[in-house]
Amino acid sequence: MKNDQVKEQEIMVRESLKRIKNKIMVMSGKGGVGKSTMAVCLAIDLSRRGYKTGILDVDIHGPNVPRMLGISGHLNITPGQLIIPKTITRNLSAVSIEYLLANKDQAVIWRGPLKHTAIAQFIGQVAWGDLDYLVIDSPPGTGDEPLSVAQLIPDAKGVIVTQPQEISLADVRKCITFCHQVEMEPIGIIENMSGIICPHCGRKFYIFKSGGGENTALATGIPFLGALNFDPAVVDAADEGRLLIYMSDGKMPYNQDFGKITDKVIERIEETRVEPVSIDEIRKSKWIKIAIPLSKEKVAPLFKADRIALFQVKDGDINYLDSIKQEGHISPSDIKRLPQVNLVIVKDIKDKAKYVLNRNRIGVVSNAPDLPPEKLVKEFLAGHLHGS
Ligand SMILES: Nc1ncnc2c1ncn2[C@@H]1O[C@H](COP(=O)(O)OP(=O)(O)OP(=O)(O)O)[C@@H](O)[C@H]1O
Ligand SMILES: [Mg+2]
Repeated sequence: MKNDQVKEQEIMVRESLKRIKNKIMVMSGKGGVGKSTMAVCLAIDLSRRGYKTGILDVDIHGPNVPRMLGISGHLNITPGQLIIPKTITRNLSAVSIEYLLANKDQAVIWRGPLKHTAIAQFIGQVAWGDLDYLVIDSPPGTGDEPLSVAQLIPDAKGVIVTQPQEISLADVRKCITFCHQVEMEPIGIIENMSGIICPHCGRKFYIFKSGGGENTALATGIPFLGALNFDPAVVDAADEGRLLIYMSDGKMPYNQDFGKITDKVIERIEETRVEPVSIDEIRKSKWIKIAIPLSKEKVAPLFKADRIALFQVKDGDINYLDSIKQEGHISPSDIKRLPQVNLVIVKDIKDKAKYVLNRNRIGVVSNAPDLPPEKLVKEFLAGHLHGS
């Protein structure tokens, strides 16, 4: 795909996600652990608490969300050709990639780049409006497709679903590594199908093993969000599209357990909130350390640069510090590693890279004009360059 087409797609995705406060990507190292069920239940529970919530089903191989919510039929389109999500309740709406697939029952075989394009196009075409939460049911595993989702939605945070047995736990570790690689904050682990309650004696039996999810959480330092038992009524409710009705019964142990998980999710979302970095505040501060990525001595887009010019501004005085040469292209991690840098002036930057820098309290000025680095610093101090 041509560069400007990619850019256009990125802009569409940004526009679509702009009015959504929190994005949660539900993920698992392998299939069948209850990822879609957890995603749908979390979205339902959040919406029942009064949060405007959307559920986005981007599992191109098994889009199950519509079936679990009992929705079908075509989606409406705005005059601007955007998809209008299905309204489930006043606070809950849903969109599934299933609507883009010609035949629901046919397995999808797409080659990698095509899949990324399809996912990007799909995410960029939904008119969500204002949402407090968007819960994303992504394809299982840690391959190209979840990677596409993680790259396209830079500020998504990960909820990892697992089962208690050893084999699943190895998959959780893969998920955690994936989160680190794509710089996605893992907000916690849910252990699903932890045990089953005997309907006769009320005792809990462990189907797989006990405590695996919690132990992995402890070992990895990722918070444990809670455990859910296997509830046979959930299988029926999900199959028959009645999860919403099932979740409305507050007396059901499954729903009570899920409520505790939702509490924890909300808590973690707040804890991991990334406050916007104010460029004006940086400009006014007494001390600024600025990194300018360069290619052929000119300011360059982040991933195209091979050198970083470093400046320090103290009480308005500009000091050139260093020029750091790099093997390969400059990434956000290279900037993060430079001690005390709190501003980057760059030609162009992807949303994900900007998010990662902001998460580390580093401000970003992009679309910098073609001026010598020192002149760029002067322009910034004079208030002629702004954040994007
Ligand atoms: N806690 C639970 N109690 C009972 N049944 C459950 C529970 N969690 C999930 N299930 C059932 O297990 C099956 C698999 O769940 P689900 O489809 O959510 O898994 P998944 O990880 O999304 O699978 P896939 O990888 O195919 O997308 C479904 O029939 C679902 O209803
Ligand atoms: Mg699924």
